[in-house]
Amino acid sequence: MTPLHRIEERLRALTGRQAVALVVGANLFLVVLALALPPDGEMRGPAILSILGNFHILALHLPAALLLIVPLFETFERHEQATVTVRRLSVISAVGTWGAVLCGVFHAHFNGFSGEAIELHLWGGIAASAFAGLASLALVKAFRVRLAAQAVAIGVMSFAAHIGGELVHEEGFPFKANKVASPRKVEIPVAVAQVSQKRDDYAEVIAPMLDAHCVACHGAKKVKGKLRMDSLEALTKGGSEGSTFVPGDLKKSLMHVRVTLPPDDEEFMPTEGEKLSKEQIQALGLWIEGKPIPDELAKVVIAASKAAKK
Ligand code: HEC
Repeated sequence: MTPLHRIEERLRALTGRQAVALVVGANLFLVVLALALPPDGEMRGPAILSILGNFHILALHLPAALLLIVPLFETFERHEQATVTVRRLSVISAVGTWGAVLCGVFHAHFNGFSGEAIELHLWGGIAASAFAGLASLALVKAFRVRLAAQAVAIGVMSFAAHIGGELVHEEGFPFKANKVASPRKVEIPVAVAQVSQKRDDYAEVIAPMLDAHCVACHGAKKVKGKLRMDSLEALTKGGSEGSTFVPGDLKKSLMHVRVTLPPDDEEFMPTEGEKLSKEQIQALGLWIEGKPIPDELAKVVIAASKAAKK
């Protein structure tokens, strides 16, 4: 008998109540852990938990696939009682989902995530783990009940996975076609459009600068202050305090206000890493005001962004 067989025997020896207690207990543990280790946007150690967190992205695919495969096997075979294969796959998918969510809780807490979407993904993931566990408990039931439980688990998992997909990729993923197939209209403020006949100052000067200095904390992966700075739409939308980019108004444009504060001010940006140079701030100001960035200045700023990216 292999160790896996021994574990299987033990699980099969559990009474119905003990099995329920195991599933409920394991998932309550996730709830308590998520409350104790909230996703607050801070990066922290220890390294081992941070690395385990990164494994969330790897670990989640296997149980998700198994959750989908179980009902497929069930409908192929249509046995009165769940077969050994189905039982094994279902238990592995439940344990795997639990493990992937455990890594996810670490990922969110130790690797600097925060925001509404993360919260939704986190609690959705814990619910998916609970429902995967319940589906494995339902294995002792009749065919239709088993299948219904599996369908619910897949539904909850798909919801959590969808939010996760949007976090990694972009909003609307995977139902958003690429830009070639359906060009997205970016509303460039009139004042900016007028000056960008020769050079698109946003695309060529400003975006690479934000990418080098700001997007690490204000992009798809981390959304500090609920602000993303990786597209013109996102800048226009702003963050939790509202306006980040108000064309023509430097005082209302928080992205300018925050980089021109005294560096020891709590609100100074960037909070970490290389500060923007005088030239970069000047170019940012001109762009917000809707004035063309002189070629000489643009050259300096583009070079600085390239250097900072290295
Ligand atoms: C190391 C991480 C980090 C970097 C890099 C960074 N920020 Fe931030 N930023 C934060 C954090 C954390 C907050 C939320 C706390 C706060 O409001 O001060 C924030 C908030 C903001 C806000 C306020 C958003 C709102 O509406 O609440 C603005 C504007 C901003 N940052 C602009 C910038 C700009 C411009 C850059 C690049 C020059 C930048 N940030 C780079 C961490 C960063």
